[in-house]
Amino acid sequence: MEKTSTTTRPPTGLVETAFTVNGEEVCLALDPRESLLDVLRERLVLTGTKKGCDQGQCGACTVHIDGRRVVSCLTPAVQVAGQDVTTIEGVAAPDGTLHPLQQAFVDCDALQCGYCTPGQVMSGLACLAEGHAETDGAIREYMSGNLCRCGAYVGITAAIRQVADQAAQSEV
Ligand code: FES
Ligand code: FES
Repeated sequence: MEKTSTTTRPPTGLVETAFTVNGEEVCLALDPRESLLDVLRERLVLTGTKKGCDQGQCGACTVHIDGRRVVSCLTPAVQVAGQDVTTIEGVAAPDGTLHPLQQAFVDCDALQCGYCTPGQVMSGLACLAEGHAETDGAIREYMSGNLCRCGAYVGITAAIRQVADQAAQSEV
């Protein structure tokens, strides 16, 4: 009987990509079509970042790249080469103490099912850092890319406002 070759070809078209995630260096061979969201969840098992629409519409997948918020479902992972990615897993202190904004979400009842919450917290942190948390109207405007199916918007706005007010008081 004629022998058939079972040799498999090595994967082609993969791109070695080095970046940091929550301060840890990673280097992966990536398909240029892989989204950062899928790499975080499937390859690095950082499942705090959620997949909602996978189309840039809901904000559930929000992470920070070099301190700027992005929707990771629309970000090719190869694009973050050399950059610092922060996910919700990197927000609390190493000893597990919640970040003040995470604590404010708890205090202000800013979540129900919690599915949107990681993205809300990442956008809320950016909103605070950008100086867009001075009024409830500004918070609502700059958080408008993050949808919540449970309608926890009142609590989310209150949580961000609480941290903004705490920061303003500590500057006085
Ligand atoms: S999952 Fe990325 S915006 Fe909805
Ligand atoms: S708390 Fe359920 S989707 Fe926002």
